[in-house]
Amino acid sequence: MRILSGIQPSGTLHLGNYFGMMRRMIAYQERGELFCILVNLHALTSLFDSERLRSNTLDAALHFLALGLDPERCYFWVQSDVPEHTELAWYLSNITPIGLLQRAHSYKDKIARGLPANAGLFTYPVLMAADILLFQSDVVPVGKDQKQHVEMTRDIAIRFNSTYGEVFKIPDVEVEEAVAVVPGIDGRKMSKSYGNYIDIFEDKESLKKKVMSIVTDSTPVEMPKDPDMCSLFALFKLFADEEETIALAQRYRAGGLKYSEVKSELAERIWNYFAPYREKRAALAENPDRVAEIMRMGAEKARAVGLETIKAVRQAVGMSYTP
Ligand code: ADP
Ligand code: TRP
Repeated sequence: MRILSGIQPSGTLHLGNYFGMMRRMIAYQERGELFCILVNLHALTSLFDSERLRSNTLDAALHFLALGLDPERCYFWVQSDVPEHTELAWYLSNITPIGLLQRAHSYKDKIARGLPANAGLFTYPVLMAADILLFQSDVVPVGKDQKQHVEMTRDIAIRFNSTYGEVFKIPDVEVEEAVAVVPGIDGRKMSKSYGNYIDIFEDKESLKKKVMSIVTDSTPVEMPKDPDMCSLFALFKLFADEEETIALAQRYRAGGLKYSEVKSELAERIWNYFAPYREKRAALAENPDRVAEIMRMGAEKARAVGLETIKAVRQAVGMSYTP
């Protein structure tokens, strides 16, 4: 089974990215062939600071490697290192109806947030379809917000196959419902664009500060509280086993619970959870040449697989004109 997903190196990676996508990706190495892409060409649609894009890409590579992605056991590369992504995106764009792209929630949201409405942003889902279809992926694990993009990929693949013949496998989307949306410190979806995130490798002081500022309601200490309406509880759950979660829910409902105590405990748990990975990351960061070599080899390995598809596509659309 081929599992593929990508992440934009457009900012610091946060707990939402980790629980919504990265953790699952890392676990997938055990279950099948994993393809994990750092999609810097996608990031280019909304990040115009080249230095930041460069450093964020390296940062994301370090994060994944430190958190347990093993380049020997999976395919892990930077999108722009494999030129066939953009080549395939062009072929796909010619069978993608404008109407399909106009219905994309993500595009509309980004415009509403003030991003410039450029052609790259608009055709973003076509490039994403190219990422997925180039590797004949079976399953695409993503957060809820990306579900529509994978459905668009299916539409595009079906359209291509019916126009040119069966070239692409139709991928399935997988959304992990239990952690579909990780809340940020203001209670909205944790996102780099809302500035409400907690970094995976936040330093200790700022971690405490951020956790202490998680928005809670103003129910008096002695009153019963509803855990299911509380972002603090939702975050705590991510760092607790089932028994601990049930116990905390009971403390909420019984009354007498101080949010500040739960916050202190949560900060401690987040810190301890990532401690071993933090050390590994620091060691890797000291050896950037080794990291560059890992990424170069990853691209080479992925490219060999992608080339098989692109050859079939070139043939199907009529690019190979010599007998
Ligand atoms: P951001 O919202 O910070 O810009 P991205 O859109 O780059 O994050 O998301 C990268 C991946 O992480 C996607 O698969 C997305 O669904 C997942 N993800 C991002 N934020 C969250 C969140 N708060 N909860 C769950 N998954 C998330
Ligand atoms: N659009 C995805 C996001 O913002 C990133 C992405 C690009 C992706 N290509 C992909 C996800 C292919 C899954 C598969 O999160």
